[in-house]
Order: sequence, then C-alpha cells, then structure tokens
Amino acid sequence: MATIIIKHGNVVTEEGVQNVDVKIVNGVITAIGTDLTSDKGDQVIDASGKFVLPGVIDVHTHYKMGSPNGYTADDFESGSKSAACGGVTTYIDFASPVEGKPLLESLLIRQEEAKAHSYLDYHLHMEVTGWHDFTLEDLKQLARYGISSLKVYTTYSDRLPDDKIRKLLKMAKETDLLVIFHAEDDDLIASFREEFKKQNKTGVEYHAESRPHAAEVKSVQNLLAMAKEIDVPIYIVHVSTGEACELMKKAQQEGQKVYGETCPHYLLLTAECYKKEQGQRYMMTPPLRTEKDQELLWKGLQEGIFQCLTTDHCSYTVQQKLEFNSCFDGLNGIPGSETLLPLTYSEGVANGRITIEQLVAYLATNPAKLFGLYPQKGVISIGSDGDITILDPEKEVVLTGEKLHSAAGYTPFEGIKVKGYPTTTILRGNIIYQDGNFVAQKPEGRFIRARSK
Ligand code: URP
Ligand code: ZN
Repeated sequence: MATIIIKHGNVVTEEGVQNVDVKIVNGVITAIGTDLTSDKGDQVIDASGKFVLPGVIDVHTHYKMGSPNGYTADDFESGSKSAACGGVTTYIDFASPVEGKPLLESLLIRQEEAKAHSYLDYHLHMEVTGWHDFTLEDLKQLARYGISSLKVYTTYSDRLPDDKIRKLLKMAKETDLLVIFHAEDDDLIASFREEFKKQNKTGVEYHAESRPHAAEVKSVQNLLAMAKEIDVPIYIVHVSTGEACELMKKAQQEGQKVYGETCPHYLLLTAECYKKEQGQRYMMTPPLRTEKDQELLWKGLQEGIFQCLTTDHCSYTVQQKLEFNSCFDGLNGIPGSETLLPLTYSEGVANGRITIEQLVAYLATNPAKLFGLYPQKGVISIGSDGDITILDPEKEVVLTGEKLHSAAGYTPFEGIKVKGYPTTTILRGNIIYQDGNFVAQKPEGRFIRARSK
C-alpha cells in the first residue's frame, strides 16, 4: 500500500485552519489528526510552517483549443504540466459540438483527446453553440454520463441567440445542469467595431474600448432576466467589470441563484497594458478594464459575490500573438493556470484582501461543489482524493515566462513579485511537482464524472 503522510502543516478548509497531519493511502485521504504515526516505507513530508491546501481546481481552461487563427500553444500535456507546477490538481476544460454528432458523442471525442495526455484529473463543460441543434434527450444523456455544466457564448460566431438560450435554460432546469455564460453582448460589440473601423481605430490599443464595459453589463442584465423568468441558476464566467459584479450582487440579494468567477488578470492588470509595446500579449476577451473595476472585483470576492477564481487559460506564444496587429482579429487568450494560486495567495491573502479560508473556497471547495466533483475533490476530508497543494507562505518568486512551464513561453504577469508559492503538488497520493521540479513520470490524469448535486 502506497502511503504518504504530510506532517505538521497548517491544513486549510473553508471552515478554518488546523495544525494537523494528513495521511493518504492508495490515493485517498484516510486520516487527519495530530501525531499520525508512519510505518516503514511510508513517504513522510514535513510541512511545518506551510499551508496544506486541497488541490486547486481551475474550472476554466482551454487546452488544445483550435480557432480559425491557429491552435493554442498548450495541449493537454503541457497545459496540465504547467498547471501542476502551480498547485493545480484538477481542471475543467471544454468540449465543442461536432457537426452531425449528438452532444454526448462530441464530448466523448474531446475526452479521448485528453485521455493519456493529461497529468491532472479533469472534467469537461459541454459547449452549446448556435449552429448545433440540441434536444432534451441530449442533455439527459450528458447528465447521465456525469456532466454537470453547459457553456454558452453570447458573442463570437458560436453564440447562442436568446430564443435558444431560453430553450436551453428550461431544459437545463429539468436536467439539473448548470449553464455557464461568456457574457458580452454581440450586437453592441458589432456596432462599436463598425464605428471604430470607420475612424480607422483598429490597433491593439483599442481592444478594451472596442469591447466596452457596456457589452458585458448588457449581456449579464439580459441573462439575469432570462434566468429569473425561468427560475434557474446560472453562472457567469470571467467577470471583468465592477458593474456586472454589482448586478450579480443585486440579483443574489433578491434571492436569485447566480454564481460566477473572476480571474487574476482582471484583478491585477488594466487596459493600459494594450498601450504597451507588444500589447497583443494581453489580449483576451473580455478585455482588461480599469483600477476601479479591480477594486469592485476584489470587493466581490470579499463579499462572496463570486464563488470561483479561475484563469481562462488559453495560451499562445508571443510569436503567434504578434502575427496579428489588430483589435478586431487575432489570438485572444493568455496563459494563467500556473500563476493562479501564487497570484491570488500573494495579492489576496498575503496582502490582506481575502482570508486563506476564502481562497480555499474559491480555488477548490466551491468549484468542486458547483460542478459536482465534491467531496471527491475540493476538500481535505477522510474519503476524498489525496489531492493536496503545499504552499510556502514565505517563498518569494518574481514571475517570469522563462521559468514557468506553459508552452506560451511568456506570462502577462512578467516581473510581478509574489510572496507565497506552491512547493508540492500531490495528485491522488502521488507527488507530481516538488520544489520547482515537475516529477510526474506519466500523464495519468483521470476524467472525473460529476455526481448529481
Ligand atoms: O480570450 C479568451 N478568453 N479566449 C478564450 C475563449 C473565451 O472567450 O473564453
Ligand atoms: Zn474561456
């Protein structure tokens, strides 16, 4: 029996911090307590002075994502490796519909792409797009298979029009699937783009202005209204504006079940980045916003308006990015999984904005609960998978693309000094990252089925 004991660490759950030992036998947590004894052959880790966290779950990654302008730099192998080096143990990526195939079959094709390549455990959100038809039976099949969520874009060519969103929300209610939305109003963006083109404002420096705050706000307003009418929970991905966060708060206060996430880049970078040389490095949708938005998003985390902190990891190399020099087309997306925990611990917990318990809730427990992975994932508890991230709160690191492991080769957080860094990542009792070294031998990540909530 393979046994690993993590001793003397400050074990964090969303309820509090306890100085206890954690024992993992054959990949599962079997004991939590003081002075757990070890047998000959057991692997013992001394975590004195360190935080012992449930493995981080990044519920928004795009590994091996194709677009008309090319594939992401990270595939499942390099993406999951990079994430592991940042303390992530599970991620949720996306499956796109395949023409002529039912949704479940499309999902299985994507699952096959990840299989044998992922170093981490994973789950998939099923995308539902405007051009692909779907039926109630499609959704029932997905739910039976263990899928917990459907992803809808309100922008891009894949967007779902409002009549189909309503139809989907009604079916999602019946099948207990959570619909998660990329919220940007496409008509508003189209009209801004037309205007910007007329004025010859096409450079990267116009990226944020051409996809304005109002686009996210209008879309969130519309989605909240539809969800209210149908009385179904919804989840908004990568919220970038303070106004959208306030709309969510108001809806929650009125009793609506609305959930959401924000990402480190919206908390820590602003649209000024687009004016820098090689502003393409920072292009993603929705775009970066203002310092005022950052304040309101942190407030949203302090008040629990958001449930998750995620990355929208969608990595391209600088070379790929620089092939385009326009705010209207190009490669949107940035790398992020590896820096999720260091940035949110350092800027959130060490800087006194949120507590360590809140961080664990946003990075592990809430994601697991919302997407049906709890209590197998997201918590340090007897019977849960032995997924553990050990973080040294004193370790200082200056983030640089050169030292990170994403195939992007760069980070939009270049030069930021963080205090607090993961030292060990353990997936189901196996150490896969230790003190700067990725040590997993083989990609042994498993697809994790959601349990009904
Ligand atoms: O720019 C981004 N965010 N690219 C990934 C696709 C998406 O919109 O989430
Ligand atoms: Zn995304």
